[in-house]
Amino acid sequence: MNAAPLLQIRDLQKAYVLDGVTIQALRDIDLNVEPGEFVAIMGPSGSGKSTLMYILGCLDVPDAGNYQLHGQDITRMDGDQLATLRNREIGFVFQNFNLLPRTSALENVETPLIYAGIGKTERRKKARATLERMGLGERLYHLPNQLSGGQAQRVAIARALVTQPSLLLADEPTGNVDTATSAEIMTLLDELNRQEGLTIVLITHEQEVAKHARRRLFLRDGRLEMQA
Ligand SMILES: Nc1ncnc2c1ncn2[C@@H]1O[C@H](COP(=O)(O)OP(=O)(O)O)[C@@H](O)[C@H]1O
Ligand SMILES: [Mg+2]
Repeated sequence: MNAAPLLQIRDLQKAYVLDGVTIQALRDIDLNVEPGEFVAIMGPSGSGKSTLMYILGCLDVPDAGNYQLHGQDITRMDGDQLATLRNREIGFVFQNFNLLPRTSALENVETPLIYAGIGKTERRKKARATLERMGLGERLYHLPNQLSGGQAQRVAIARALVTQPSLLLADEPTGNVDTATSAEIMTLLDELNRQEGLTIVLITHEQEVAKHARRRLFLRDGRLEMQA
């Protein structure tokens, strides 16, 4: 069996221009990710990890090269088409959780379903079930500041997954938590990948975190290298 890759990138380039100075953030990137893969992208600060994540997540577009997500050529899409694709296909998790303050865990997880046009009863049901799956059934009405770092990140993961995206993108998801909590988050991602076949691309500069992935890639000065 030879399934089509979930994402396919060829010869991708991305530069930033700041005060007349051009910074080549990504050079000649080639990357395939198959459905069900768990890939870690590593590299030092400034190597282009976040830039790559923004492009993978259709939050930004490359200057040149080709990017196909689920067989769709994103370089030909306008902003609205990209937003639609992003909402349908991708769940994001960030280092700082990015939860809405003064808003319960349940309401945070419901938010993407509002944008997806799903009615209130169905939203509640899906958000509750997803939080329960993340082991947060006892924390539905807690506010972000009443949660531990690990719990807050699990709420963020629930919010990323409630729309059933085909790809979870995580940028330094353990960057703001202690070692024990980091292990807890990685165990959850392992389970989601192994048990539910969730495709994960995770960005980290920590070797311990990258060990959980089944394939590791290394970015250096905007170039992607294989790593054992
Ligand atoms: N919005 C931006 N404007 C100008 N330069 C940027 C911008 N974002 C990132 N860069 C530069 O692009 C390079 C890659 O940055 P980034 O993708 O954030 O790396 P990483 O996530 O690995 O730390 C760095 O040299 C950074 O300074
Ligand atoms: Mg970064």
